[in-house]
Amino acid sequence: MLKFVTICCLLGWAGWAVGQEIPPYIKQCRRSDPGLTDCLKEALQHLRPYLSSGIPEIKLPSVEPFVMDQLSLQLTGGPQGYRINLKNMEVFGASNFTVRSIKLADGSKPFETRLTIPRLTIHAKYTSSGVLIIIPASGSGDFDAVFEGVTADVKGLVSTNEKPTGMHLRVEKLDLNLSIKKPRLSVSKIFNNNRILTEATNLFLKENGHEVLRALQPQLQKKLSSEFTGIANQLLDNVPIHFFIVD
Ligand SMILES: *[C@@H]1O[C@H](CO)[C@@H](O)[C@H](O)[C@H]1NC(C)=O
Ligand SMILES: *[C@@H]1O[C@H](CO)[C@@H](O)[C@H](O)[C@H]1NC(C)=O
Repeated sequence: MLKFVTICCLLGWAGWAVGQEIPPYIKQCRRSDPGLTDCLKEALQHLRPYLSSGIPEIKLPSVEPFVMDQLSLQLTGGPQGYRINLKNMEVFGASNFTVRSIKLADGSKPFETRLTIPRLTIHAKYTSSGVLIIIPASGSGDFDAVFEGVTADVKGLVSTNEKPTGMHLRVEKLDLNLSIKKPRLSVSKIFNNNRILTEATNLFLKENGHEVLRALQPQLQKKLSSEFTGIANQLLDNVPIHFFIVD
């Protein structure tokens, strides 16, 4: 009798799962699993190739590259300060994350996760103005950054909303801190290929990599967190909670 009940339940569950068609990019976890956080870590990692290629059926674009519009920053002080402007930024490597820790939202407490990314590269169009040390540094060209050893700490507040498909989560606020062990920044094809100016700029960027990064970071973090919120909500809006976590 017990066996019969078990088989019935299994069949019932299988029927349910097929009926609801759990998409391949979802790795389900059970709420009762004592290793629930590990399961959720794996579920997040499981998404990586899908984030990399994009998920057309829910209109989720590929994050490789991750496209951002524009950042601008003043790198040295004074009226003739050296300013740079980065446009058409493309970020590569964001989908290659490892989930180090995860903490679920609890009441009014945010969810927290720490991700590491071995290498992020950024390619952008660069324009600059002002004076760099003693050299007039107005020009335009290509900008490249390689960030090695990236740690991203993410905290987020979520809300729930009921839809015909079931209960859905929504990210309301996302706070992101980046820490980058080794930044390498460089420019090329600038100042009509003037070698001396290009080399002076690259020397400045090399010797001041951490300072430039510090100046860049608040804007970069803000942009990334708003982009990540959009991606997370595109997924959560299409997939109800019970697809991710089964009772
Ligand atoms: C992804 O990360 C692994 C190490 O975690 C690294 O070996 C690999 O080169 C990375 N791939 C890309 C495309 O960055
Ligand atoms: C980011 O850093 C600030 C200041 O150190 C801190 O208050 C905030 O909680 C941090 N956020 C995350 C997501 O770790």
